[in-house]
Amino acid sequence: MNTMVVLISGRGSNLRALVEAGLPVAAVISNRADAAGLAYAAGRGIATAVVPHRDYATREEFDAALGQAIDAFRPGLVALAGFMRILTAGFVQRYHGRMLNIHPSLLPAFAGLDTHARALAAGVKLHGCSVHFVTAELDHGPIVMQAAVPVLASDDATALAARVLAQEHRIYPQAARWYLEQKLVIERGVVRVKGDPPQQSYAP
Ligand code: GAR
Repeated sequence: MNTMVVLISGRGSNLRALVEAGLPVAAVISNRADAAGLAYAAGRGIATAVVPHRDYATREEFDAALGQAIDAFRPGLVALAGFMRILTAGFVQRYHGRMLNIHPSLLPAFAGLDTHARALAAGVKLHGCSVHFVTAELDHGPIVMQAAVPVLASDDATALAARVLAQEHRIYPQAARWYLEQKLVIERGVVRVKGDPPQQSYAP
């Protein structure tokens, strides 16, 4: 199986889910030295690297350094897991068709930040998470898998986020595994899985 590099900025719970699913994580790279996920990775004997965005004058220079750090591990897949940086078009192009992201909403609804509070404010009755290929438009690439959860009358953003996060930890390893097994086919911007297993789930 081909390997993957995971990019994180913080807690790293999705990273943990990927590792614990037995996926071949060759390295974890963060733009922040204090990202908790780095310590987790090091404790599991996984290579880590930090490319601090503040060390670079422009996004282009940062993305070039990040790309070098990634390519040192020759991964087949780059997985963004709570990597909170806007990527340049050049970087997205460099990993075109081999970079996935997990986003805490049912895309194309609620791209961007504060998705749980925005879902509550909009009054949606279903919320969830999406794994998608990364394209130049933020949070808008071809969707690999989604999970939906109910929005309860008692929810605040924290409770809703926790319910969604549990589903993130289920669908990201599944989507990454499909990618590494070369089961994902993109046709006219729509992702199909060879063998056609379900690409959506609902957690009541
Ligand atoms: C996750 O909820 C992920 O979906 C979100 O950040 C969190 C990272 O948590 N990503 C984004 O909002 C990207 N736009 P984690 O570090 O525990 O995996």
